[in-house]
Amino acid sequence: MNGNDPIELMFGGLQKLGPGSDAETRRALSLLPAREWGLVVDAGCGSGRQTLVLAQEIDSIVHAVDNYQPFLDDLNRRAGALGIAGQIETHCFSMETIPEHFRQIDLLWSEGAAYSIGFGNALRCWASAIVSGGYLAVSELSWLDQPASDRERVFFAREYPDMKSTRENISLAEATGYRLVESFVMPRETWWEGYYELLEPRARRLVAHADPEIRLFAEQTVEEVEVFKQSKGSYGYLFLLLQRR
Ligand SMILES: C[S@@+](CC[C@H](N)C(=O)[O-])C[C@H]1O[C@@H](n2cnc3c(N)ncnc32)[C@H](O)[C@@H]1O
Repeated sequence: MNGNDPIELMFGGLQKLGPGSDAETRRALSLLPAREWGLVVDAGCGSGRQTLVLAQEIDSIVHAVDNYQPFLDDLNRRAGALGIAGQIETHCFSMETIPEHFRQIDLLWSEGAAYSIGFGNALRCWASAIVSGGYLAVSELSWLDQPASDRERVFFAREYPDMKSTRENISLAEATGYRLVESFVMPRETWWEGYYELLEPRARRLVAHADPEIRLFAEQTVEEVEVFKQSKGSYGYLFLLLQRR
């Protein structure tokens, strides 16, 4: 572990690396047809909160992909502690290369991660690896309404200029080879519980760090949490359940 790695300092040891919850993961899974899943991949799994749920709910191996090995080490430790290590295989590579590593995926899961390679790019790239009739379960930060304040507008113009409305994201999915099965917006408390409530005090401490890169990262994170606290539901995490055509 590198004590000066900004990612480690901010996220190390967290069980959740983004909005979401075990209940919402189960809810998303329950919206797909009950069936035996063959090849299952979790893209951008992080420390694997949702991977562990999938491994407990699905009767096949879950292949968990992330490009940051310390998160995968965490996931392996937690799977071992739960006695389900045999249900999960971790892989350290970019999720953009999933089609090179896996073919004929039955279920591709990705919570809070697709944006890292561009949401539209992720949809197009993964479509080639998902079997026709297979499923993609993916969550994406989306506008639900107009920005609630100038602060919010300025923040997202800088941090996520490509952020789209829920309707635009659904249209994008339909234009890139998928059929919409279901969608829902995750409840506001899934941002706070186990995520911002832990991240905010860490970020506030790191604002005084000696390393300017870490200070900047901390300041941006504090700003993100403050924007969220003042937001009035103008944005949220959209969960899309899609079937590959
Ligand atoms: C916001 S976190 C979400 C993690 C997890 N799904 C969760 O909800 O707790 C995004 C994850 O995507 C991973 N990631 C970012 N870019 C990636 C890439 N190109 N390939 C694989 N993983 C990537 C990060 O390392 C991180 O673990």
